[in-house]
Amino acid sequence: MEVYTEIAPLRRHLAAARGRGPVVLVPTMGALHDGHRACIDRAHAVTGATVVVSIFVNPLQFNQASDLEAYPRDNDGDLRLCAKWGVDAVFAPAGDAMYPGPQRVWVEVEDVAATLEGAHRPGHFRGVTTVVTKLFNIVQPDRAVFGQKDAQQALVVRRMVEQLNLPVELILAATVREPDGLALSSRNRRLDPDQRRRAAGIYRALRGAGERIDAGERSVERVESAVREELADRGIDAVEYAAVRRADDLSPLERIEGRVILAVAVRVGATRLIDNMVFDVTRDSVIIDTALF
Ligand code: PAF
Repeated sequence: MEVYTEIAPLRRHLAAARGRGPVVLVPTMGALHDGHRACIDRAHAVTGATVVVSIFVNPLQFNQASDLEAYPRDNDGDLRLCAKWGVDAVFAPAGDAMYPGPQRVWVEVEDVAATLEGAHRPGHFRGVTTVVTKLFNIVQPDRAVFGQKDAQQALVVRRMVEQLNLPVELILAATVREPDGLALSSRNRRLDPDQRRRAAGIYRALRGAGERIDAGERSVERVESAVREELADRGIDAVEYAAVRRADDLSPLERIEGRVILAVAVRVGATRLIDNMVFDVTRDSVIIDTALF
């Protein structure tokens, strides 16, 4: 496995690899776990793929300095895991390789980025779309893998790829969960044992909503308030949002029909956690926990 901290040698490596098959990028901020492994596995499933993992804690997408500072970092551990998982090349830009000076050019998605995370973390998505555009330009991947756990991010990047005609095919990897349902996240490392136990309530609330919808509930308002109640019962009072939206563009709706997403953001102690579940609801059937795209 080759590790690159500078752009030029990575580009030389990829120029040679490109002739042998598709280049597949898995963008990450490190502190790798089995959720990233699922993304890397999806990348390896592309025939003949050269799999590139980027590891970069992108300061532009943090709207609070304290959150950026507290974000877990484990460079040596990440490199060991990438080698074990058969990654071909890691791009872990050093120092100012990504931002040699203040960033004066931004890529910004409107509509789908403005709500939910966008509303609670001003500037977050323009930081994401700007760094993802830079990574796409640096690596020039044929495909890129994102996780469904960050569903809104996946929709925002999809919109960006569509509207800017970027020649990258997106692959979505399913959310990986702990046995009690907690979605894997680098942020889980910051939970103490009591917080960790309470955090499992997020998944219970998502499943509970699925069961209600399956039983015939179609009111968005009632499902959202049931989710908040379930979270409170499990010791999670600090709910930033618990929202049912259309799954293709996150626009609001009153009655649950078609493909919908239930997206949740909470604070457990000082740690902010997000999760979601997608439901496909027709007159005759309800599919609980399906792929976003
Ligand atoms: O999902 C993440 O880890 C980040 O938002 C990403 C896509 C690597 C951009 O910094």
